[in-house]
Amino acid sequence: MDSQQLLAMLAPGQALSGTAMATRAGVTRAAVWKQIEVLRARGVPIEASTAAGYKLPWPLQMLDEASIRASLPASLSAALGALEVHWELDSTSSELQRRVSQAADFSMLLAETQTAGRGRRGRPWLSPPGLNLYLSCLKRFENGFVSLAGLSLAIGVMVLRAMGNLAITGAGLKWPNDLLAVNGSSAGGKLGGILVELTGEYQGPCVAIIGIGLNLRLTDLLREQAGQPISDLATLAGGTPADRNHVAASLIGALIEGLRQFEQEGFAGFAADFARHDLLYGERLHLAGACGEFDGTGAGVDSRGALLVHADDGELHRIDSADVTVRPA
Ligand code: BTN
Repeated sequence: MDSQQLLAMLAPGQALSGTAMATRAGVTRAAVWKQIEVLRARGVPIEASTAAGYKLPWPLQMLDEASIRASLPASLSAALGALEVHWELDSTSSELQRRVSQAADFSMLLAETQTAGRGRRGRPWLSPPGLNLYLSCLKRFENGFVSLAGLSLAIGVMVLRAMGNLAITGAGLKWPNDLLAVNGSSAGGKLGGILVELTGEYQGPCVAIIGIGLNLRLTDLLREQAGQPISDLATLAGGTPADRNHVAASLIGALIEGLRQFEQEGFAGFAADFARHDLLYGERLHLAGACGEFDGTGAGVDSRGALLVHADDGELHRIDSADVTVRPA
C-alpha cells in the first residue's frame, strides 16, 4: 500500500478503521498507520477517533485523467498535446522543462503533490496532496520573447475565465500574476499563483512553460506556513469547492482557448478583462525593488502589461520587471 491508495480510500470522507483499510489493501495495520503518518507529514489533515477510525474533514475527488478529459469539449480535448496526472512530481513545471524538446503544444501535467513546488522569486510553493491544484502547460510561440509581453497577466485573465465558467466569483488579479480573493472592494488572501518560464530566442522560436497553483482547500497548517494571507475556492463557494477534476478541466480549456487568442491578439485581447479585475487600480501602493522605493497610486497597466504607478512626486512610473514588491502603502 502507498499513500496514494490510502488517500483514495479516505477520499469519500467516510470514517474507516485501520483494520478495514488494512484488510482492503491486504497489508498490516502497521503499514496503514505508516502511510497515515506520511500523508499527515505532507499536510493532509487526517482525523482519528478510537470509535470511528480515520477520516478526512471533508470528501475530496482524486485527480483523474479520464474525468478531466470527459469534462472537456471534444474540440479542446483534441487540441491537447498530452494530459498526465501524476501522484507526485518534484514540480510539474520542472518535469515539463525536462521534456521541453519533445513535448507538444498544450501538454498539460498535473500532480497531486509536489516535493519541490516552485513559486516566483525562488520561493517554495507548498503542495500537499489532494487539496489544491498544481498544473503546468507548455506552449510554443514563433516570434520570440518580444511577442510575449503581458503573457503572465493574460494567464491571470484565463484563470479567472476558467473560474467564471464554473460560476466561481469573488477573485481579482494583482499585478503581475497573483490571483487574490476579493473582500467587498478590497483584496483578500492569495488564491493562486502563476509562474511563466520562457526558454528560446529573443526574436525567434521560444517555449513558455506556464505553471499554475490554485488553492481549492486550505488547512490550518498551510495557512500558518504560508507567511502571507491566503484563501481558497472553498471559502469563495461558502464551504465546498467545485469538483477538482472540473476545476482542472475548466483551467485546461481556458488555457487552450486563451493561449490561441494570445497568439493572435497578444495582450491587447486581454487588456479590458485585466483592467476589470485589476486590484491595484486606484490603490495606494508602496513599491520597492530595481525601480527604487516610492509610494504612489496604481494607474493600471500599459499595452505591454507594465504596471503604471502615479508616484506621489507626480511622476508616472512604468514598472515592467516583476522583480519588485508591491504592497499597500
Ligand atoms: C507564485 O509564486 O505565485 C507562483 C506559484 C506557481 C506554482 C505552480 S504549482 C504548478 C507549477 N509547478 C511549480 O513548481 N510551480 C507552479
